[in-house]
Amino acid sequence: MSVQARIKRTTAPDILSRKGGQPIVSLTAYHTHTAAIADQFVDFLLVGDSLGMVMHGFETTLPVTLDLMISHGRAVCRGSQKALVVVDMPFGSYEESPQVAFRNAARIIKETECGAVKLEGGKRMARTINYLVDRGIPVMAHIGLTPQSVNILGGFRSQGRKRDLWKPILEDAIAVSEAGAFAVVLEAMAEPLAREITEMVPIPTIGIGASAQCDGQILVMEDMLGLSPRIPKFVKEFGQVGQAIESAIKSYADEVRNRSFPTDKHTYELKEK
Ligand code: KIV
Repeated sequence: MSVQARIKRTTAPDILSRKGGQPIVSLTAYHTHTAAIADQFVDFLLVGDSLGMVMHGFETTLPVTLDLMISHGRAVCRGSQKALVVVDMPFGSYEESPQVAFRNAARIIKETECGAVKLEGGKRMARTINYLVDRGIPVMAHIGLTPQSVNILGGFRSQGRKRDLWKPILEDAIAVSEAGAFAVVLEAMAEPLAREITEMVPIPTIGIGASAQCDGQILVMEDMLGLSPRIPKFVKEFGQVGQAIESAIKSYADEVRNRSFPTDKHTYELKEK
């Protein structure tokens, strides 16, 4: 085997080794420029299927295709150098059988050069997770609120808010960990449940709306930047990028209309010779 020439990226085993250590930092990324900025600060970038809602205006993540994930996955891998890139498997690309899941996950890995895939589901996906991991594909699991099951859940609802609802979620966490997932996303669940899962499983838990008890955190980048029109309760806006874009575009429109842009500085002169 030849020696890798480029900067060594964070790997799935690196993330696994962070269980119980310094908090793991992650964000979603869907395109090259933002991936390059975030790459300096995060441990992994998730090309989440939330891109269907954020970038393409769908009401849910269900219409997202494998081709769309691969296209954005490539862009994020090209923009980043250091962070592990994880690409979501979209609805319909893995549920049918472990074999179908392998074929589609292998396409994602080959065509994007990402380091891992993520899929939604606990116990029901354990056999598939095991099948992929056994064949060389690192898998991040995702339990709690699983947006691809929105039609079964009846909406984007927080999970495990009553103790008598915990059992299946705890079983999901154990199942994905035993199946070989290197980390598990816990989405929108009550803090004591997230704490119990984090204490119980030997793999890092990555929380989104699952409290500070998790081993790491992830947010949708557009939400935390202040670019999304509606945000869930668990998001903190760390910036006001939406306002900055609005004010820049307004200035541009004003300057074009009053002919103060472009100026000589932005204009090509004729060359003498
Ligand atoms: O698609 C996504 O952005 C995700 C995160 C919410 C974890 O799965």
